[in-house]
Amino acid sequence: MNISIDISQVLSFLPNNSLENIQPRVDAAWDTLLSGTGAGNDFLGWVRLPSQTDQELLSRLCDHAARIKQIAEVFVVVGIGGSYLGSRAVIEALSPSFPSLVRSPQSPVVLFAGENLSEDYHADLLQVLDQYSCAIAVISKSGTTTEPAVAFRLIKQKLESKYGKEGARERIVAITDASRGALKTIADKEGYESYIIPDDVGGRYSVLTPVGLLPVAVAGIDIRKLIEGAAIMEQVVCSTPDFSNNPATLYAAVRNILYEQGKATEIMVTYQPHLVMLTEWWKQLYGESEGKDGKGIFPAGVTFTSDLHSMGQFIQEGSRNIFETVLSIDQPNRELMVPVDPENYDGLNFLAGKSLSEVNHKAEEGTRMAHVEGGVPNIRISIPCLDAMHLGQLLYFYEFACGVSGYTLGVNPFDQPGVEAYKRNMFKLLGKPGF
Ligand code: PA5
Repeated sequence: MNISIDISQVLSFLPNNSLENIQPRVDAAWDTLLSGTGAGNDFLGWVRLPSQTDQELLSRLCDHAARIKQIAEVFVVVGIGGSYLGSRAVIEALSPSFPSLVRSPQSPVVLFAGENLSEDYHADLLQVLDQYSCAIAVISKSGTTTEPAVAFRLIKQKLESKYGKEGARERIVAITDASRGALKTIADKEGYESYIIPDDVGGRYSVLTPVGLLPVAVAGIDIRKLIEGAAIMEQVVCSTPDFSNNPATLYAAVRNILYEQGKATEIMVTYQPHLVMLTEWWKQLYGESEGKDGKGIFPAGVTFTSDLHSMGQFIQEGSRNIFETVLSIDQPNRELMVPVDPENYDGLNFLAGKSLSEVNHKAEEGTRMAHVEGGVPNIRISIPCLDAMHLGQLLYFYEFACGVSGYTLGVNPFDQPGVEAYKRNMFKLLGKPGF
């Protein structure tokens, strides 16, 4: 196991013996999750997914991705929430910073649609599809979600007018429920190649199913390594709930204790712009899983050092109901030193010869000290480097910790009844029959 969690900068905020006191509750939550005896237990298919992923499915996904790479310069993922955030998080974490400019000739640029209803956004996208060869994955577990359905209707028509019905069919893949929903009906009727989202895996826990894996494979990322990392983490966190050997139960415990101390906002901090979408994925995972029944920690996110120049003031001196969880990457994948400048007008020669990563880590250390002194507890999660294997570990770590944390909080971490309210109003306002 390569992921590690450091809670030394939280301890002074915890009441005496709180970790010992909460251990039985977390043990029970861990047991409830693994024995499948809790609320939402029909959505636990993700728990043993990494170790049980079929090699044939991985081969099929890789072969399919290779075919898409041959015919498309642009690959559009149409989906929302759990049907898009995971793939986007992984692709952005592991791709070059400027993929549209530094594009690997072997991999299409991956774009996203159906996660908003912006007219300008989708009009711009259709223009791109005119200019570049393209293929798409339309992803919806329920097959009835409005935003991706609207985007798909637009893009399907664009592809059919560009390539003809037959040609479009080769460029569209559907990822949806095994038997229900409008998308399933369309996919069957039109003869699209399809993948099944397992019944017992909810949207926000689906990144390691074809929902996440196909787009990630198209982007040129090694999905076998991603699954391998997740399987390593599965082995670790499912073996024992004991805090000293289980980073996920420790994380779940500490955030619940902090919540009970009035720390109702958790800020996920990264120092890598590549991880903005991982933060978004994490926000959905924890926000939808825990924010219900009048309870839950509000998950927020910042990217430092940029946001130290915007949100840093609030975190240092604003309302003291927050804690930070810093996701730290030990080693960069590439090396860049601060150069010597003989003129030294900017006075930065004291940094010359240091790597940017060293400077970034010192910024992290200095910020941690400042924020802890300012009354903000600081959990630190670190991984050795950003690659598919470690990211796989991290994804599974967050999923498992979320399940344990939700049960410790006393909610069902696998439903999202509150998401329906806006839909009812929107349908009524738009005149949908029956609303
Ligand atoms: O986590 C969830 O279940 C949700 O966020 C869904 O992923 C999201 O609402 C999209 O649903 P669907 O895949 O059914 O279109």
